[in-house]
Amino acid sequence: MVTNTKRHSAPLTEIEHLAFCTTEDQLKPKPLEEELKVNVRWQNIPDEYLDLSMDQLDERILRARQDLGTAVTILGHYYQREEVIKYVDFQGDSFKLSQQAAAQHEADYIVFCGVHFMAETACILCKPNQQVILPNMAAGCSMADMAPTDDVIDAWDDLMEVLGEGSVIPITYMNSTADIKALCGKNGGIVCTSSNASAVFEWAFERGDKVLFIPDQHLGRNTGLEYGIGLDEMALWNPFKPLGGLTIDRINKARVLLWRGHCSVHTRFTVGQITKARERHPDVNVIVHPECVMDVVDAADFKGSTEVIRKTINNAPSGTKWGVGTEISLVNRIAKDNPDKFIFCLDPVVCPCSTMYRIHPAYLAWVLEGLTDGKVVNRITVDQDTHTYASIALERMLQIQ
Ligand code: 13P
Ligand code: SF4
Repeated sequence: MVTNTKRHSAPLTEIEHLAFCTTEDQLKPKPLEEELKVNVRWQNIPDEYLDLSMDQLDERILRARQDLGTAVTILGHYYQREEVIKYVDFQGDSFKLSQQAAAQHEADYIVFCGVHFMAETACILCKPNQQVILPNMAAGCSMADMAPTDDVIDAWDDLMEVLGEGSVIPITYMNSTADIKALCGKNGGIVCTSSNASAVFEWAFERGDKVLFIPDQHLGRNTGLEYGIGLDEMALWNPFKPLGGLTIDRINKARVLLWRGHCSVHTRFTVGQITKARERHPDVNVIVHPECVMDVVDAADFKGSTEVIRKTINNAPSGTKWGVGTEISLVNRIAKDNPDKFIFCLDPVVCPCSTMYRIHPAYLAWVLEGLTDGKVVNRITVDQDTHTYASIALERMLQIQ
């Protein structure tokens, strides 16, 4: 057995998660030097960018964009703040953005306004002559950090020892490192996102009787239930305990082994918030992301990826009411785009994803102006072996419709 007892520790990104929780009014954009007072890790940036106002940044970003022309494409995840998303050429959920990264042929540089695992994925899917840039290297993801590569390799080795080669299909959620995607690609596995997790489960169970799902236990559990797998057939793998804290019998009987990871943003939503929303607005429709815990997903009327949430509300009849369980920047944008509907976030505390939020326009200005000077700042790279195997797992996902 490889795994042994480790001291339980939460990743720093999880501890920093509450850093930007505030009131709606206070979440207004500020010069970077103001935001740096928030106690999280930020990447150092030249002083000249610190006190620029939003207007000054706007001018500099637009000028740099104009100078760079088609040499640069900017991609942005839906959770990016308003003052950043306005500059992107394409916005989307993780799946749509991975498709976009694979489809970009013209641009020499892809600037990814999102988090590290997304930029890494773009780097694997884009053409070899293209370079991917993440404006702030401190924009990670607490969920991805809950599955350190060494822990996942140890777990995999243990499972192979207990069950034998070829017995488990590894599925990793997009929200994981390239190393883990590569482990999946090397071992007959695949990547999924929240918009294709059910189809990916189907793919996996056509090829084996058992799945290891990394790193989001909630997406894994919610998808397993949707696929018809009972709770008693799913077991939680705790990376801090020998053999994941499971008996050999439990491992043998489980059809889905769920890695013990979660999203710090989506686990804030509770059944109590849904009950309150229904008390206040009896005709409300509740829609939540599948990274929410099972009870919340069960209590909601609808669930879906960020793209599904957007489309469902955009296509809903005028006058409908929506209580939404996903990241606040997206909820606010959907509300702005649908003034004929009443849309609110289920969580009364305004709490943006603290890593997505670290892409401040000052960082975008910095990397774009670097390119205009012929300097590539914050390039994301993936070593050749990892690239090869991770792209196998990603291509398998992109083949599934
Ligand atoms: P999707 O983009 O797949 O909806 O995932 C949401 C998320 O948490 C991204 O980090
Ligand atoms: Fe990670 Fe959750 Fe933030 Fe997405 S919303 S980047 S899963 S912490």
